[in-house]
Amino acid sequence: MSIDKRNNEDDIEDRQNMVEKHHCNSSHNSNAIDSYDVDDADEQKHFQKVVNAFLYYRSYARNRIRRSFHYYGQLSDAHKQLLPKFESHLALILKRIDKNYNVLKNILQGCDHLFENQNRSFDLPSSTASNDELNMSDQDEVNPPAGVLSMDMDKIKTTLKQFVRDWTEEGKEERNSCYQPIIDEIVARLPLQKEPNEFCNDVSYIQILVPGAGLGRLSWELARLGYACQGNEVSMYMLIASHYVLNRCQQVNATTIYPWVLQFCNNYSNEDQLRAARFPDVDTSSLPQNARFSMSAGDFLHVYNEPGPLLYHFEDMVGEMSIEISYVDLRSVILKYGFQILTENYPIRTGYIKNARSMLHYEYDCVFFVAYKPTN
Ligand SMILES: C[S@@+](CC[C@H](N)C(=O)[O-])C[C@H]1O[C@@H](n2cnc3c(N)ncnc32)[C@H](O)[C@@H]1O
Repeated sequence: MSIDKRNNEDDIEDRQNMVEKHHCNSSHNSNAIDSYDVDDADEQKHFQKVVNAFLYYRSYARNRIRRSFHYYGQLSDAHKQLLPKFESHLALILKRIDKNYNVLKNILQGCDHLFENQNRSFDLPSSTASNDELNMSDQDEVNPPAGVLSMDMDKIKTTLKQFVRDWTEEGKEERNSCYQPIIDEIVARLPLQKEPNEFCNDVSYIQILVPGAGLGRLSWELARLGYACQGNEVSMYMLIASHYVLNRCQQVNATTIYPWVLQFCNNYSNEDQLRAARFPDVDTSSLPQNARFSMSAGDFLHVYNEPGPLLYHFEDMVGEMSIEISYVDLRSVILKYGFQILTENYPIRTGYIKNARSMLHYEYDCVFFVAYKPTN
């Protein structure tokens, strides 16, 4: 799969540096990203910042554990004896942080070829130090690389959890509630083997666009069914991670991560925090030879010149202008653009990158709707 970079006039970093088109040919094994240059210096700068955030994960996470070692060290001996295994639990966390870090480095390995017509260069550290696990309290914290903010590290943590949602057995429940209704509706309304219908004249080439495609599972499933499907995604974190899972993971469940290892609150047991997730649950290289699957990189509104938004990605973001409207208002806008609402179900309860073992869960009451725009 290749990512094809498209023009972008936005002056905001996250968007400015991510209007790319990520193109996956029918032979999805050669997926690279094709780049239509805009401002290469800015692109490279943003790309480097995201790479730096991936590479900072280990130090960032160890800074957190260092503080726990330090605070525990401040307790009286009597109090420490109440929690005799606390430090060994932290040591196990450190080991898993190292394993996550190695996966993140591996994900970066193929990224110099992320864009089909542009090579990105960056240096990867060769080895991971594994000493000083238990004597961290004396060491200084490692500062983030220039430009890497705590928000960027949140994105790295989210990326790890996103693998669980899209590409693990554990994520199946979320996929069944979020992706399956969409797939069912598409199959019912746009069957591939039927005659042309009111929605599509050429059933052999039904094109589906998945905006905000994340790590690409929904798009991949639709391509697997025989639809020509393009996922679109603006986040470089997601693009780098989806490139890895779609292009470089050819063995089922060969990659192990510890997605919840930096969740310190609402854990029932230490084991819950330490548990592994393996991905991908399917062979992502197993699409049929004639599959038509592509990913476009960039802001949906710019790449396709479409109105929006549907998700308030830029709410409260520094330097971004964003208004946020209710579903009812959004619905009225959709109708004003000439769409007819054919199906509407509410509420559809679902989680999003949910830690099934956590004692705290967020759930969404989603609206599932089908909108149709007559051509004339
Ligand atoms: C809540 S996540 C959902 C991801 C995926 N659809 C899933 O269900 O797991 C929303 C995704 O949309 C992407 N996104 C937000 N605004 C976008 C835009 N204007 N253009 C393209 N992608 C966008 C974000 O980067 C993020 O990956």
